Amino acid sequence: MQAPEAYARIDYLRRTIEEHNHRYYAENRPLISDQAFDQLLKELESLEARFPEYDDPNSPTRRVGGSITRSFDTATHEYPMLSLGNTYSLEEVEAFIARVEKSITDEVTFTCELKYDGVAISLSYLQGQLVQAVTRGDGEKGDVVTDNVRTIRSLPLKLRGEYPERLILRGEIIMPRVSFDHLNRERRAEGKETFANPRNSAAGSLKLQDSAEVARRGLDCFLYSVPGTGNAQSTHFDSLQQARGWGFRVSEQLTRCRDIQEIEEFIRYWDQARQALPYDIDGVVIKVDRFDLQEALGFTAKNPRWAIAYKFKAENVSTRLLSVSYQVGRTGAITPVANLEPVQLAGTTVKRASLHNADIIAALDLHEHDHVFVEKGGEIIPKITGVDLERRETGSQPMQFITHCPECGSLLERREEEAAYYCPNSRACPPQIRGRIAHFISRRAMDIESLGEGKVELLYDLGIIQDPADLYDLAPMHLLGIEKTWEDQESGKLRKVSFREKTVENIISGIEASREVPFERVLFALGIRYVGETTAKKLARHFGDLDALMQASLDELLRVDEVGPRIAESLLNYFGEEENRRLIERLISSGLQFHSQQALSSGGALSGRSFVVSGVFARYSRDAIKDLIEKHGGRNTASLSAQTDFLLAGENMGPAKREKAEKLGIRIISEDELLQMIGKE
Ligand code: IVH
Repeated sequence: MQAPEAYARIDYLRRTIEEHNHRYYAENRPLISDQAFDQLLKELESLEARFPEYDDPNSPTRRVGGSITRSFDTATHEYPMLSLGNTYSLEEVEAFIARVEKSITDEVTFTCELKYDGVAISLSYLQGQLVQAVTRGDGEKGDVVTDNVRTIRSLPLKLRGEYPERLILRGEIIMPRVSFDHLNRERRAEGKETFANPRNSAAGSLKLQDSAEVARRGLDCFLYSVPGTGNAQSTHFDSLQQARGWGFRVSEQLTRCRDIQEIEEFIRYWDQARQALPYDIDGVVIKVDRFDLQEALGFTAKNPRWAIAYKFKAENVSTRLLSVSYQVGRTGAITPVANLEPVQLAGTTVKRASLHNADIIAALDLHEHDHVFVEKGGEIIPKITGVDLERRETGSQPMQFITHCPECGSLLERREEEAAYYCPNSRACPPQIRGRIAHFISRRAMDIESLGEGKVELLYDLGIIQDPADLYDLAPMHLLGIEKTWEDQESGKLRKVSFREKTVENIISGIEASREVPFERVLFALGIRYVGETTAKKLARHFGDLDALMQASLDELLRVDEVGPRIAESLLNYFGEEENRRLIERLISSGLQFHSQQALSSGGALSGRSFVVSGVFARYSRDAIKDLIEKHGGRNTASLSAQTDFLLAGENMGPAKREKAEKLGIRIISEDELLQMIGKE
């Protein structure tokens, strides 16, 4: 393809892909299948790689991220980003309305909208192109997070239709609950600290240095402010409709209200209905609709006089603590759970609340039989926020954390710098074994869906399986006819597990199919502490097979991208244990995959060579470059050492790295040189 022709195609693809992005993410009415979409995106990626002269920072290919930001630049807001005066009382909302009506002689209309619980963002567009996204910061200055914000699919990188030459708009970046739950599940599996609520994780995600990781976090953005046009009768309500036309996601819930009754109705409705929204809101914002009236009302030193935020109270009730039970997880971590006298809270009956760890119990100074306050905020599991001291029984004793495992009786241990107590009896403590088998069969590991957690527990309790390797010795006759009925404590309903012919057939074929699960997922399935999905993938690609991984020294492990001392030590401990090695041998003889199909560790053009990739590249994202290196047999390592063969230097690479490479005599190559080495040009 010739350059002009390529450009026409690139331009067409960019426009088409953005149109589909908009339909899918902002309007929720997709036109084409995911597969057809991916095909268009792939074609664009490959054309952009061939014709780098047509680079565009707002190309839809940038939505997957790839750039690395070392530290964020700061930018001064053209208009300070003020916050809203807020209140928890309807009387104060009434007083606000009365104040507005007193100072304005015209009839005033208000808009009521949702108060999204996320992070404020200021977006600048020049000639319809997104040029800058800045966080609120201290209101005067914020961080420039443009590359990260570009990954948010519901946000237009180029505006549609007619628009002013220059625009500064504001909105809220949020993390929908599904993305939040997914992220925390992943982090828990990887032994990482979880985020307390979607707002914190949206804020944390926006400050990540790797925009490709931001892209995976599934952020979303609601637009709530467009500058007035100066036209006397123009309104906030209309300006948001216009913004919707430019391609922004604007809430459907925006409502015009004429008086306090209508406003209160909106507030009451959303205080209840917010439970069903797919994202968190923490209140309602009431704004004077007409821009000229907003201008007339003006600002105080901190807040606009034409708007107020009504914040929902986190629902809070008091109930009696009946007892504390202690759950043992698959890693042996002990989680205390409060058993409560059942109480109605935010539309559900609450019987339990997590107490997290011993420090939290101590901080609450929880005594036996206390009355406690239970709250349901943004989080799904209710939490205990305090003790009603007035109702404490005289002479009641402080809650003592257990010293021994409730399941196997072992003395609990507490590791340095960790809040949790652990049961060290990982070999024989039943919930740990059951948890490990349940993790092994889970969807993202060996994916033996036909065998659920309930069935695994039953088979373990009956002594039919003791570890994951036993699954591969199962035959139909071991399973047929097994049955158990019990009452579920939570719901009081009867539950039943039974192994009929069809079920058994499905289980056996599920186990059979799992022999083909690729090495990286088998490695994740082993449940090695701190080795989550991503780490397992990196290890599998780096070492190529289990043998090489098991023989790796601490130093060699530390050379793997994103492997630090904590993970490396955990791996050495795991492979150092005789019992684990026996389990692995049995899994090998059952035919599981312990070789990576991804790594062409021998035979590739880069076979045996190690690379450090640094900076930003013209043709490929950093992750794509790393993939290329691995596909051709090379290895990626995180930091320079005497063992490094090449430093692949992109734009913005710091001078310190170059100096260090020169000192160590490491060859420094460019993206083009790498592509030559692997025969791509
Ligand atoms: S209007 C002049 N509308 O709540 C202030 N803010 O303190 C204009 N927020 O920092 C803000 N949803 O991040 C407005 N529908 C909404 C909002 C909203 C969430 C956030 C915003 C601001 C804070 C108010």
